[in-house]
Amino acid sequence: MGLFSKRRDTAGQLDMSKLPRHIAIIMDGNGRWAKKRGLPRQAGHAAGAETFRRIATCCRDMGIGHFTVYAFSTENWKRPPEEVAAIMSLLEKYLHEAIEKMERDGVRLRILGDTSVLSPELRALIAETDELSRHITGMQANICLNYGGRDEIIRAARAYAEKYRETGEPLTEESFAGYLYTAGIPDPDLIIRPSGEYRLSNFLMWQSAYSELYFTDTLWPDFTEEELRRAIISYQHRDRRFGGIK
Ligand code: FPP
Repeated sequence: MGLFSKRRDTAGQLDMSKLPRHIAIIMDGNGRWAKKRGLPRQAGHAAGAETFRRIATCCRDMGIGHFTVYAFSTENWKRPPEEVAAIMSLLEKYLHEAIEKMERDGVRLRILGDTSVLSPELRALIAETDELSRHITGMQANICLNYGGRDEIIRAARAYAEKYRETGEPLTEESFAGYLYTAGIPDPDLIIRPSGEYRLSNFLMWQSAYSELYFTDTLWPDFTEEELRRAIISYQHRDRRFGGIK
């Protein structure tokens, strides 16, 4: 029996007045999902991309303000080139789709990470979604792509040092956060990791300082709206003190 196998904390009703403002998810388990079915890993990622669409829609319908997913880490380049190419092509396909539908769907899109090394096609699509997103109100979906939490902090430190030389801007937690990819985005209240792994894997290292964590054995392609609701109910049972007392 693991620490998370007794799920009494997920019983009860969802309280719509206490929803997390920002939910972040590590989309893990695509490879294992495919292997269980005798399929190539790429098929797992394709199924994972479908789950992303479903869960992003659920979050929007519930009225969640921000939904962030970890799609490709700075470490994922170590994977076989054909797997990397398959993930990039799924992202390209999704961005094409988003450009068509984001206004109608009421979902703004942002890509967080070092996009400078991506293909010119992908970079052009990202620029286009950025531009369109400026005029859209609604939920913001953030896709972390070539993202690493430590890399983000180092980049922010460099950018701050440069600014400091010009302006002498004092360093505070608030001012530093303005140099991260997530500038202007509230910290995630709830981080969900499916697939039975209990770690953050370099995801939102600065922003997760006070996030509530939810782990489940479900593999990402099998993750459902019901599971999302259970994660939110579990979050609503937590006593968030941010270092203070009650
Ligand atoms: C981790 O599972 C998943 C990834 C590294 C890729 C996630 C990418 C997508 C779902 C596709 C594109 C996304 C969008 C938003 C359209 P894993 O392969 O490490 O699984 P395993 O641990 O079972 O091998």
